[in-house]
Amino acid sequence: MNHEVVEKNVGLLAVLIAVVISIGGLVQIVPLMFSAKVTQPIQGVTPYPPLALAGRDVYVREGCYLCHTQMIRPFRAETERYGHYSVAGEFVYDRPFQWGSKRTGPDLARVGGRYSDDWHRVHLLNPRDVVPESNMPAFAWLEKKAVDGAAVQRHMRALKRLGDPYTDADVQGAPAAVAGKTELDALIVYLQGLGKALPPGAGR
Ligand code: HEC
Repeated sequence: MNHEVVEKNVGLLAVLIAVVISIGGLVQIVPLMFSAKVTQPIQGVTPYPPLALAGRDVYVREGCYLCHTQMIRPFRAETERYGHYSVAGEFVYDRPFQWGSKRTGPDLARVGGRYSDDWHRVHLLNPRDVVPESNMPAFAWLEKKAVDGAAVQRHMRALKRLGDPYTDADVQGAPAAVAGKTELDALIVYLQGLGKALPPGAGR
């Protein structure tokens, strides 16, 4: 009988459906919020230093994620090419994640240390100078733009408020840490730090 009441009342039916679906969602999501595996950084992962943070902002602004993922999946073909598959604890300080889903270019999750700073400099100014067949755009203007120290400081203050373990001294020192650097310098520092917490050979 009760069932009939529900079936004949669309509003009630909709509310009850929403309740049931919410329970299903919560059962999946809530345990993740308390699992150390996905909320704690793995050893070697620290909040981004000021210059790398500025570089990360450039990465996001320029839309590098539209062609590059930062997420190595646990498949042989991926780990052979890129190194250890990505684990959740590597990304706890990534707000937002740069996992992406489109690989026009290679995955960059472990590109840190793969090339020299000079290689990156030449590559970002004109990719064709080092990879003749490349269709990656040139980002030549990054060399001419100075990093905005005040913006980096504001960004760090916001991340600290969200729980990233920056000290007051870190935040205070941010403008000095990026003084005189260009956005190109910052982007290279960011790229060179990517994926270093796990040894490249592991996971194969
Ligand atoms: C239109 C797509 C596209 C965009 C946007 C793009 N790239 Fe690329 N990228 C590529 C392609 C294709 C390659 C492979 C050829 C090459 O090395 O140039 C590549 C290669 C790279 C490599 C070398 C990776 C390796 O393992 O050899 C790095 C580093 C890189 N890109 C960084 C960046 C950064 C940083 C940005 C944003 C400022 C960016 N890319 C934007 C397409 C793109």
